[in-house]
Amino acid sequence: MSSYVHLVPALTNVDISAQLCEAAVEIVRMLRIVAAVLFGVVLLSAGTVLWFLKSEGLSARKKPSDFEYALANFALGQSIPIYTRGLKNPLAVNDENIREAQHHFHEHCAVCHGDDGAGKTAVAAHMSPEVPDLHADHVQKWTDGQLFYIIRNGVRFTGMPSWDLADDHIWKLVLVVRGFGPKQSREKPVADNNR
Ligand code: HEC
Repeated sequence: MSSYVHLVPALTNVDISAQLCEAAVEIVRMLRIVAAVLFGVVLLSAGTVLWFLKSEGLSARKKPSDFEYALANFALGQSIPIYTRGLKNPLAVNDENIREAQHHFHEHCAVCHGDDGAGKTAVAAHMSPEVPDLHADHVQKWTDGQLFYIIRNGVRFTGMPSWDLADDHIWKLVLVVRGFGPKQSREKPVADNNR
């Protein structure tokens, strides 16, 4: 064995530099493929957005697709600060609060949402995105705090306005929206998501 030892470093050096060279070529090849794929994805996305816009994608005559709604609902969820999740409505569910709350709802909200919360009003008829049925799961899934945030701040790119009302006033409106939830509306069938 020992007679061959002096040959080893020379052989290893050649081997290593050849291997390094091959590895570098391979890396460059991979980078080119990744760049080509990324370019393709960007081109395809830009094409899809353009096609969407050109096919009257932003006309209020068309109802958004389920995919658009899913995307918008996800975005809305992400935009609501986390601390709001744990907030509890400080108001008791009693006759006086409910009566006042319904009065506020009738005054501010019923023009679009209807007193029954179903959103089947003359104003709502031609809106896109649609005025949701407030009985729907995707509305009732919000916590009280999230509903408070949505009512106070509104929803951009939709007809849902923001409201500069006193906290107490907004919590009352949250009571009304909660009232459209499954427990309180047992006598009416819980309407399907009208989207
Ligand atoms: C001018 C019409 C209009 C008025 C007035 C209005 N809303 Fe809305 N509201 C909308 C529309 C449109 C949406 C759908 C927003 C969306 O697509 O995310 C909506 C959504 C909502 C949602 C559900 C949010 C979601 O998408 O899950 C709640 C809760 C709500 N409104 C409560 C109220 C309350 C309470 C008032 C009164 C203070 C009110 N709205 C007044 C049009 C209106």
